[in-house]
Amino acid sequence: MSTAAAPACTIRLAAPDDAAAIAAIYAPIVETTAISFEEVAPDAAEIGRRIEATLGPFPYLVAVGEAGVAGYAYASAYRPRAAYRWSVAVSVYVGEAGRRRGTGAALYRALFAILTRQGYQSAFAGITLPNAASVALHEAVGFRLSGTDPRAGHKFGRWWDVGNFAFAFNPLGDAPEPPRTLQAIGADSVAACLTPAAAR
Ligand SMILES: CC(C)(COP(=O)(O)OP(=O)(O)OC[C@H]1O[C@@H](n2cnc3c(N)ncnc32)[C@H](O)[C@@H]1OP(=O)(O)O)[C@@H](O)C(=O)NCCC(=O)NCCS
Repeated sequence: MSTAAAPACTIRLAAPDDAAAIAAIYAPIVETTAISFEEVAPDAAEIGRRIEATLGPFPYLVAVGEAGVAGYAYASAYRPRAAYRWSVAVSVYVGEAGRRRGTGAALYRALFAILTRQGYQSAFAGITLPNAASVALHEAVGFRLSGTDPRAGHKFGRWWDVGNFAFAFNPLGDAPEPPRTLQAIGADSVAACLTPAAAR
C-alpha cells in the first residue's frame, strides 16, 4: 500500500476542454514507450475528436486534482461484430507526477460502475509487456491474464508481446438486453458513479 499523501481527485466525464491536458499526458507514452502502439502522438484536436466519438456509447472519464487533469480512462468497442456488443476495450493513463496515489484505480472503479449500469458485461485490456504497474493495477481491480500474443507489435527497433487481460464485471446471464448509451441511463445515474477518488 502506498503511503504518499495525495490530493483528492474529482472524477467526471471528459469535456472538449480537457483535450490539451489529456494530449500532454499521452504524448510521452507514445513518444518514449511501447505502452501505446501509436507512433505519432495525437494533438489536442484529435484527442477532442476521440472524446466526442467515445461519449455516448461509452464513458470517457478524467480525474481532476488541484493541478488539473491528473489522469483519464475510457472504454471503446472491443470488436465491431454484433455479438461482441456487450464487451469493451479499456485504457487508463495517469500523468507521471500523480501515479501511485489511487487515481488509476479510482478512474477504473468509476468507469466500471458506469459500464455496469449501461449493461456492458466484459472488459478487455491489451498490455504491452513488460509493464509491472499496469499489470498490477489491472489485477488489483479484477482483471486476469487470458493469454499473450507474442511479438504483436514492433516499435523502437524491437518486437513486443501483448498480454490480454479480461474482466467479467457484470455477469448478465443468458439473455442480456443491449447496452444503453450514457444518455439513455441518464445524467443522474452517471453522476452516482463518480465518487471522489480517495485521498491517500
Ligand atoms: C498503470 C497506471 C495507470 C497506474 O495508475 P496509478 O494511479 O499509479 O495506480 P493506482 O495508484 O491507482 O494503483 C492501484 C494499485 O495498482 C497497483 N500498482 C499501480 N502502480 C504500481 C506499480 N508501479 N508497481 C506495483 N503495483 C502498482 C497496486 O496494487 C496499487 O495499489 P496500492 O498502491 O494500494 O498498492 C500508471 O502507472 C500509468 O499511467 N502508467 C503509464 C500508462 C499505462 O501503462 N497505462 C496502462 C496501459 S495498458
